[in-house]
Amino acid sequence: EDAALQAHFDAVIDADGKVEPRDWMPEAYRKTLVRQISQHAHSEIVGMLPEGNWISRAPSLKRKAILIAKVQDEGGHGLYLYSAAETLGTSRDQMLDALHTGKAKYSSIFNYPTLNWADVGVIGWLVDGAAIMNQIPLCRCSYGPYARAMIRVCKEESFHQRQGYEALLVMMQGTAEQKAMVQDAVNRYWWKCLAMFGPPDADSPNSVQGMRWGIKRISNDDLRQKFIDATVPQAEVLGVTLPDPDLKWNEERGHYDYGAIDWDEFWATVNGNGPMNKERLATRVKAHEQGAWVREAALAHAAKQQQRQQK
Ligand code: 3HC
Repeated sequence: EDAALQAHFDAVIDADGKVEPRDWMPEAYRKTLVRQISQHAHSEIVGMLPEGNWISRAPSLKRKAILIAKVQDEGGHGLYLYSAAETLGTSRDQMLDALHTGKAKYSSIFNYPTLNWADVGVIGWLVDGAAIMNQIPLCRCSYGPYARAMIRVCKEESFHQRQGYEALLVMMQGTAEQKAMVQDAVNRYWWKCLAMFGPPDADSPNSVQGMRWGIKRISNDDLRQKFIDATVPQAEVLGVTLPDPDLKWNEERGHYDYGAIDWDEFWATVNGNGPMNKERLATRVKAHEQGAWVREAALAHAAKQQQRQQK
């Protein structure tokens, strides 16, 4: 019987169909989805922190309102994604526990500090720009709940990217100090954003299987290249220099060539030793502990509702 179920699953994947929560699926497929979707959810929730730091210091009411909306969106993305992972039979408590005990991964990019206001613009332009590049193909992922969540997430990410780019355009028309802040933020974030796409294809253990299952549609290196090709002209319009002396149009390839990414630094950060890892986790753990009363109150309320319905 298992062979028949496997054959049906393979046929769905081959036909580019969707796998839904109640369908039979190989355990390894379920496991890889839980891994990726929960890591993605954690990234959204931890991703609220670097920008959240700037809400109280935004330079105007308009910028503050935009930033609050954006950070709130990231929280919403985390919630859709935890829900999508729950449809695979893992509980939210299990996922949060893995995050809080340092076992779960989340995106490397959120372990760097936000030192000046331009960082908020650069996170919108480059970090969210990279996130969209990675997430558009996930809208076609073979697992239905993940693919559907990604459609809405991508629409909201597009607003995030634009608000960041627009904030930077305004700063680049400002004083010499403002322009220098933008360039400084670009210098600090550029290489980290290229690493967001994950290790080179040759060193990416999950890629071959992820592609076979229709979870991944475009490889880490191909997405990185697409991001670079799309971003160079935007940097020119903005008037900033991307900090890579090897960045050059290659006529033959029809793509920009670029310099070497520091993968040692990337892995150190992924493995818990980046500049902000400890602080980010401590902040999440504290928020979870301080929010215990909300979870208890919600459970008490739900129990009362149920009792009332039974009467
Ligand atoms: N940061 C941290 N870990 C990373 C990473 C990164 N930038 N890139 C890769 N890794 C990890 C992988 O998770 C994997 O670890 P594991 O096997 O222990 O789970 C290991 O490095 C090897 O990488 P692979 O390429 O083999 O792994 P994948 O096939 O899973 O590809 C990925 C990695 C491209 C990040 C893929 O998991 C993916 O597309 N994930 C969904 C998107 C996502 O998580 N985005 C998060 C950042 S964007 C964001 O949060 C939104 C923003 O608006 C705030």
